[in-house]
Amino acid sequence: MDGKFCQSREEKVSPEVIRSLIGKARAQLALAYAPYSGFYVAAALLCKDGTVYTGCNIENASYPAGNCAERTAIFKAVSEGHREFSCIVIMGGKDGKVEEYCPPCGICRQVLREFCPPLGFSVILAKSEEEYRIFSLEELLPESFGPESLA
Ligand code: THU
Repeated sequence: MDGKFCQSREEKVSPEVIRSLIGKARAQLALAYAPYSGFYVAAALLCKDGTVYTGCNIENASYPAGNCAERTAIFKAVSEGHREFSCIVIMGGKDGKVEEYCPPCGICRQVLREFCPPLGFSVILAKSEEEYRIFSLEELLPESFGPESLA
């Protein structure tokens, strides 16, 4: 790695902001379109400038055409001109009932990696405003392949 990924940790996102993002993600859960799996997922992505983009999973009768909540949020944000992000809150569960943490799938981790610094971006898995876990992207996708790898 030779320091390629050396970077300072970003300022922590405050608990108040995290709670607000969790509220936005929970509201988004109701919009998940998951008629095939019945597994509802929602995300709230915080841009560096304070803008928040939410996303939900959107399934499809042709199963592989579906999209995850995290990618919905990040694609919405990037398509609106945002490329710098602080954190993402993710929550989900069967029939929209959030009982366990919902970690991002491997494809979503890689998509986040395209825009988010592994040590300077937090992935927050939430059950409620009071119960959540914070990971760096580096913890969830160690030794990753990113834009710098192609430089
Ligand atoms: N899902 C997400 O939205 N995000 C993830 O990271 C994990 C899985 C969705 C995809 C599919 O609609 C449902 O959960 C079941 O896999």
